[in-house]
Amino acid sequence: MTLWAGRVEGALDPAVWEFLRADDAELLPYDCEATAEHAGRLHAAGLLTGDELAEVETRLAEIAQDPASYLDSDEDVHSAIERLLGEVGRKIHAGRSRNDQVAAAFRLYALDACAEAREEIDALALVVLSFAETEADTVMPGYTHMQRGQPVTLGHHLLAWVEMLDRDRTRFAYAAEAAAESPLGAGALAGSTLPLPPPSGQMRNSIDAVADRDFALDYLYAAAVLFTHLSRIGEEIVIWATSEFGFVKLPETAATGSSMMPQKLNPDVAELVRGKAGTAIGRLTGLLATVKGLPLAYDRDLQEDKVPVFASRRDMRGALQALVALVSGLDVNRERLATAASDPLLLATDAAEALVVDGVPFRDAHERVAEAVRDGSFAPPAAPAPRAAPGPGGVREALAEARQRFGDNL
Ligand code: ARG
Repeated sequence: MTLWAGRVEGALDPAVWEFLRADDAELLPYDCEATAEHAGRLHAAGLLTGDELAEVETRLAEIAQDPASYLDSDEDVHSAIERLLGEVGRKIHAGRSRNDQVAAAFRLYALDACAEAREEIDALALVVLSFAETEADTVMPGYTHMQRGQPVTLGHHLLAWVEMLDRDRTRFAYAAEAAAESPLGAGALAGSTLPLPPPSGQMRNSIDAVADRDFALDYLYAAAVLFTHLSRIGEEIVIWATSEFGFVKLPETAATGSSMMPQKLNPDVAELVRGKAGTAIGRLTGLLATVKGLPLAYDRDLQEDKVPVFASRRDMRGALQALVALVSGLDVNRERLATAASDPLLLATDAAEALVVDGVPFRDAHERVAEAVRDGSFAPPAAPAPRAAPGPGGVREALAEARQRFGDNL
C-alpha cells in the first residue's frame, strides 16, 4: 500500500512500480532518527500524546536495527517506516512530506558519512606519517616532468601526501557543515498550517529546504578530490614498485599474483584505487547533471541523489583501508634510492645557486651550468649548501608539526 493510495483506483503497472521504487535501504536508521525528531515536534504541538510519542520512539529504535523489515512492497524507506509504525504511523505524517523527510534523513546520513571519511583519512595519514618518520633521512631524487630534478628525502615526499590528506579532511568538514541544517517543517514545499515548533537549525526557506542537494554535491566533490589524491598516491606506488624504478617492494598482504605468469606480484590495490577515482569523479558529474535542469522545489529526479553518495562512501572506506594495508607494508629499497639520488646532475641547481651567492646573476649562472652539463664538464659543488625548510633540512621539523596538527585525531 502506497502513502498516496487514496488518490488512485487500482494498482500501478508492475513495471512502473519497479521503476519508481527507491534504492534507499541505507537511509533507514537516519530516517528513523528524523522521524523521531518530527514525532517530538508533533507532541510539542499537542498532536501526539505522550504515550504515542513513547510508542513511536520505541518502534523507531527497533525498526532502525531491522533492515529486513523494509519490504519490496514498500515504495521507499519512508513508506516502510510509516507502515512499520502501525496504527500510530497513521498520525506521523502530519505536517511533513516525504520531500522534507528525505532531505532530513539524507542530511543525517551525510553528516555520518563525513565523520567516517575524516576518521578513515586520519587512519591513512597516521600510517603515512609513521612511514615518513622512518624514512626522514632516506635520500631520493625528486621529480618534475617524471625527470630527476633535485634531491629530496622520502620523508619529505611522503609529507606531501599528508598535506593532501589534510586538505581532504577540511573538505569533508565543509561538506558536514553544509549538511548540518534542518529542512523539517518545510513540508512538501510551503510548510504546513499545523503549529509545529521549528526544528533546531531550521533552514530559512522552505522551497530551498526541499530542493537543495548542495550538501550531497559537496560530499561527492570531497570524495572526488580525495580519490584524485589517492589515485596520485596509487600511481606513485605503481611506478616505485616497477622493476625499472625498484624503489619499493609490495607487501604480499596487499598485492596480487598473475593467473598465468608465475613470477608476477602486481600493484592491484594501487591500480584499483586509481580506477575508482574515475568512478568517483563520474558520480559528482552525474549528480551535477541530475540537479542542473531541475525547477524548484522537489522533483522525483532527486531520488537519484542517494545511490552515488552511498557508493562513494563504500568505495572510500574500501580504498582508504586497503591503502593502509598497502602503505604500511611497503618495503623501501634504500640502496636503489641512494643510487638514483647520487646522480651529480641533481645538484646542477645548487651549483647555479652557489654562483649566485658569489654575485653572478641567476640567468648567467644558469647558462654557465647548463653549458657545463652539455659539454660533460659539470661537477657538483663539493659541499652542497643546506636547504631551507620545507626541503630535506626541514623534514624533522615538518614531521613534528604534522604530528601536532593530526595530534587530536591520531
Ligand atoms: N523516494 C523519494 C526520494 O528519494 C522520496 C520523496 C518522494 N517524494 C515525492 N513527492 N514523490 O526522493
